[in-house]
Order: sequence, then structure tokens, then C-alpha cells
Amino acid sequence: LERTFLAIKPDGVQRGLVGEIIRRFETKGFTLVGLKLLIPSQELAEKHYAVHKERPFFKDLVSFITSGPIVAMVWEGDGVVASARKMIGATNPLNAEPGTIRGDFGINIGRNIIHGSDAIETAQNEISLWFSDAELANWEPTIKPWLVE
Ligand code: GTP
Ligand code: MG
Repeated sequence: LERTFLAIKPDGVQRGLVGEIIRRFETKGFTLVGLKLLIPSQELAEKHYAVHKERPFFKDLVSFITSGPIVAMVWEGDGVVASARKMIGATNPLNAEPGTIRGDFGINIGRNIIHGSDAIETAQNEISLWFSDAELANWEPTIKPWLVE
């Protein structure tokens, strides 16, 4: 089954958006299989954003993501990687459509509230970077037949 890694960044936590964001993925019909709040270490943040290490904003990005608690999550469901990216919206909240998380709650690219894996393979790597197997629950919601034919 397809899984993705989502993380509510320190701005989303500070602004009290945790419940609202989790609610959106729950009511969409995806299944929460991993959840924890933590302040990421420098090492973890640098690994997570390794693809951006040559970019001019890398240092600020890592220092921001380690500046306070984030809510790390794994969500499961058919097409969850691409669907979550759509629900999150464009990287720059000013370009994100209303109805998306960044479109509804953000105004700045360096404060864009939430991270979502950009592809299935990235998702697998990020899930294993942030979670151990023991931290992930294999379960099936009893409402599943009402969500998926
Ligand atoms: P993530 O889900 O966080 O990975 O966002 P994304 O996939 O929409 O964007 P990308 O992976 O290209 O960039 C990662 C993060 O770096 C973004 O979410 C932004 O927080 C930050 N970022 C990207 N581009 C810029 C930029 O031009 N300036 C600044 N300050 N931050 C940027
Ligand atoms: Mg990205």
C-alpha cells in the first residue's frame, strides 16, 4: 500500500494548525499510520533536505526546521503521495490555490507550514529516515469499504 511522509513544520505547530491539518487528511479518507512530535536534530534535518544542500536557502531552511517541534506523520492510501502534494499546494504559498493548506494558511515560501514527499521513492526514503518500523502501525480502518470499492 502507498505511503507518504508529511511533516507539519515549526510554523504550523506554533500557529496551532496541527488539528486542522490532520483533520484534512483524515476526512479525505487517508489512514494515519505514524505520528510523533519532535524537535529534529541538525543531522536529521540536513539528511532530510540533502537534495537542497547547494541551494542558497539551505542553511536558513535547516535552522528553521530545527528551531522547534514539528509533527512527523506517515499517511497511507491509494495515490496518497500525489494527492497529499495537491492538498498541500504550491511551494510558495502566494502561488498556492485556495483550498490547499499553503493557499489557505500561508504567505511566505520560507514559512510554508508543511512538508510532503514529492514522489513514491522519496516517500519510502523519508519514511525510513524519520520512523523505525516499530513506530508504524499496520492497521485497516473498519470504514474502508465505505472509502474504497
Ligand atoms: P517540501 O515539501 O518542504 O519539500 O516543499 P516543496 O517540495 O514544495 O519545495 P522544495 O522541496 O523545492 O523546497 C523545500 C523547502 O525549501 C520549501 O518547502 C521551502 O520551505 C524552502 N524553499 C524552497 N525554495 C525556497 C526559496 O527560494 N527561498 C526560501 N527561503 N526557501 C525556499
Ligand atoms: Mg520538496
